[in-house]
Amino acid sequence: MNNTLIEAIEKRRTQYALGRNIIQAQEEITALIEEAIKLSPSAFNSQSSRAVILFGQQSEKFWHIVMNELRIIVPADKFAPTEAKINSFAAGVGTILFYEDQQIITSLQQQYPNYAEQFPVWSEQGSGIAQFAVWSALANAGIGASLQHYNPLPDAAAAKEWQIPESWKLRAMMPFGSNEAPFPEKSFIDDTERFKVFY
Ligand SMILES: Cc1cc2nc3c(=O)[nH]c(=O)nc-3n(C[C@H](O)[C@H](O)[C@H](O)COP(=O)(O)O)c2cc1C
Repeated sequence: MNNTLIEAIEKRRTQYALGRNIIQAQEEITALIEEAIKLSPSAFNSQSSRAVILFGQQSEKFWHIVMNELRIIVPADKFAPTEAKINSFAAGVGTILFYEDQQIITSLQQQYPNYAEQFPVWSEQGSGIAQFAVWSALANAGIGASLQHYNPLPDAAAAKEWQIPESWKLRAMMPFGSNEAPFPEKSFIDDTERFKVFY
């Protein structure tokens, strides 16, 4: 059965070779990212996902922050591969920082004490859904991206640089740009290991 959403999802892959050869205007990409996050579901329609969208030098600044933090913990003689990796993220068009607003979660926990333990879990799941929606929307527009987790290393410096509210917790970062390399073959585990279907 043909399905345009499945066809779009199929285009989403991890792209590490990012460049700046894209046709879309920054405003167009911003609108796409915002729409993808807004249309993503969240527990109790809590809409706890937040995003900071960084283009050009702002994105480079973010990766510079990450690099500085990594320099503190990675031995100097082993830093070259780390430096190359961070530079590859900075080589793209921009970076999306995905946050979850903890204030919303605390307020829901107070409102619905029976579900108190679940709200942080649902927040993480909601963030994942938003990340997937953005990643897929970018891929469908021909824009490559990857998902990174350098948090909590850059949290404090990023919060200061972009005046991030205290209640926003950084969960993931997505560098994006033009696809500068083909995607490697991807393997899949057998369907029988994954699915149980009963008709
Ligand atoms: C929850 C989650 C966390 C991930 N974290 C990272 C990460 O920190 N760094 C990274 O390079 N890729 C990360 N990835 C990307 C996966 O490695 C990648 O999606 C997977 O290998 C399948 O490849 P594909 O994206 O090309 O389909 C993450 C993916 C998911 C869903």
